[in-house]
Amino acid sequence: MRFLVTAGPTREPIDPVRYISNRSSGKMGYAVAEAALEAGHDVILISGQVNLAPPSNATLISVSTSDEMFDAVHQHADKCDVCVLCAAVADYKPAKVSPVKIKKLGENFSLELVPTRDILDSLGHQSDRRFLLVGFAAETNHVEENAAKKLREKNCDIIVANDVSSATSGIESDVNEVTILFRNGAPQKISRATKKIIARELLEIFSKIRNKNV
Ligand code: PMT
Repeated sequence: MRFLVTAGPTREPIDPVRYISNRSSGKMGYAVAEAALEAGHDVILISGQVNLAPPSNATLISVSTSDEMFDAVHQHADKCDVCVLCAAVADYKPAKVSPVKIKKLGENFSLELVPTRDILDSLGHQSDRRFLLVGFAAETNHVEENAAKKLREKNCDIIVANDVSSATSGIESDVNEVTILFRNGAPQKISRATKKIIARELLEIFSKIRNKNV
């Protein structure tokens, strides 16, 4: 099978030296890409800027902004069997990017932000979609409830709920614990383990469901 995996943060520029971003390290997405390669699949890894060595044998597409990630995903998704959107894409970006470094003026400063395009939502509502679509939901409260809402609204097949409220697992950490929500059927938990182990379990679940659907 061919997998498309997104990983890492996006950077939304403010001016030539500043940007809005988040703490995603890319570890979870890279672990999913590695698990897919280990299982003998082809992998297109679309990655934001991270400090990780890319898995050898993956086709790596490096991007920076949410717009670049949107375009790269749309360019490759239709040739894939499974798309796993693990990246932490910014929800907002500056309305205008200053072409020169913004000067410090010593007074309050407001930045107008506009919504970015939602990549998962755009794929979920593609009428002729043939690939299995997996999203992640990074939540700090009402984790399963909020993740279930994203599963419904973004119209994906599976959502992996990731509690990011803990300092010792989730974002940036080498370990994680997740709950997988399906369109039909009971949620399935994977308890605390390294992202590598969690990724292997996720891969088995995604592959089983993809094979059942074709
Ligand atoms: O990178 P690590 O440090 O290893 O951390 C892993 C992780 C916590 C980032 C990862 O496991 C995770 O939860 N990724 C999803 C992060 C996120 O942006 O969640 P969200 O709930 O805001 O978005 C829900 C889904 O919509 C995600 O699949 C996201 O990729 C997608 N999205 C969001 C906004 C947008 N403009 N386009 C999108 O496609």
